[in-house]
Amino acid sequence: MSGLLSILFGSAISENKKKGAISLSKIEEFEKQLSDADTWLKSGMENGQEGFGWLRLPYQDVSSLKEQGRWLSGFESIIQIGIGGSALGNRMLNNALLHPFYNDLTPEKRKGPRYYLAENVDPESNNAIWEMVDPDKTALLVISKSGSTAETMANFLFFFNKMQESLDRDETLKRVLVITDPEKGTLRALVNDTGCRSLEVPSGVGGRYSVLSPVGLAAASAVGIDIDDLLAGAREAHSQLSCSSGILDNPAHILSTLTFLHYREGRNINVLMPYTDSLNAFVEWYAQLWAESIGKEGKGSTPVRALGAVDQHSQVQLYTEGPDDKLFTLINVEKRNSVLTIPHPNEGSLSPLGYMGGKDMSQMIGFEARSTASAIAASGKPVIWIDLPDLSAKTLGGLIFFYQYATAMLGYLLSINPFDQPGVEQGKKYTYGLMGRKGFEDNVSEVEKIFSSIESLSTSM
Ligand code: PA5
Repeated sequence: MSGLLSILFGSAISENKKKGAISLSKIEEFEKQLSDADTWLKSGMENGQEGFGWLRLPYQDVSSLKEQGRWLSGFESIIQIGIGGSALGNRMLNNALLHPFYNDLTPEKRKGPRYYLAENVDPESNNAIWEMVDPDKTALLVISKSGSTAETMANFLFFFNKMQESLDRDETLKRVLVITDPEKGTLRALVNDTGCRSLEVPSGVGGRYSVLSPVGLAAASAVGIDIDDLLAGAREAHSQLSCSSGILDNPAHILSTLTFLHYREGRNINVLMPYTDSLNAFVEWYAQLWAESIGKEGKGSTPVRALGAVDQHSQVQLYTEGPDDKLFTLINVEKRNSVLTIPHPNEGSLSPLGYMGGKDMSQMIGFEARSTASAIAASGKPVIWIDLPDLSAKTLGGLIFFYQYATAMLGYLLSINPFDQPGVEQGKKYTYGLMGRKGFEDNVSEVEKIFSSIESLSTSM
């Protein structure tokens, strides 16, 4: 995809039965299936089918979400309450595009409110967030597509109640923005009853595919992320990926086919390893997208998060000399936003370090990525390399869309529905039951029965 990313896959394909590689002719057999997958995505989008709504997001009208973003930006702090697809997208956008210590910057440098994410039902984290904010100057942004997820509801009740202890009910409601289903769920009922601010999760868009909807973009625009550029990158990716050029010329076709074929060869672990701290949370977001979309009916490859160069000193031993059950994707950023020249040593005892003096640290991390890719490939394991020209809102929008598209295509190749998540729903029902929600009583006896088999044998130390 010219200008957005390049994908290099020479070590994962080979004509000479090279260890860890798939033959080109095998890959080319998928031409027809991939073009059918493009058609499937296009018609799902055009017919408004459940799950395909993310394909329309790059073309959405963003005026009302920008208006809410402007409103949010007037606060000193935002507490975003959500989990899974209603949280990971914002963590990824902020990590990639904001200063690493954004919340600690002065208001002049920050140019937006401080941002806190209340994701887990962990009393320690939630109490700590509350300690950091001034209730009067804080907005509560609660996001849940279903409007009922137990973790999000518990956290919302906590912050909503805390705010009412400092302000009154009406003042609290003036600080609440709800993003949820247009019609269903407890949060929509709250909006209908109280008239508090709200935005809609567009119909047909699943949680993990929703980062480019109001779910991700409202807070992103409030903290100063260029959401027009994000969407421009996604549009460009869509137009390039959806025109069925040959497999080798279409990054989503090549990634999904290679993953599928290596999976069939027993490589059912997918390691994604960006060489920049700014994509650390991208990998968390990817792990949800990948795991929930393709892990079903006994199929799926396990996403593994890694970070270069840090995990060279933790995981790479396993990657090179461990079992041949993984497909590796490394992400490199060509032009980094920060420049740092490694100084020449000025102490005699440090003179052995002279070889690195005067070198650019961006070049060093790039060399580290090349070294790891080469070490893994040399051990006969398949490596895919993604090059981003830079990390901007536009290229990130392209990368997000590319991964969503390739994941959906892989779902098609595996003959599973990449847009549902029955396994997640089951866990949610068990939690509702255990927490005493009406209508979920049967789930309690089911959990008790299953858990009794877990606790039937034990030991301690
Ligand atoms: O992708 C999904 O659908 C899930 O992981 C959801 O994002 C997650 O369970 C949160 O759901 P909700 O937004 O309904 O609170």
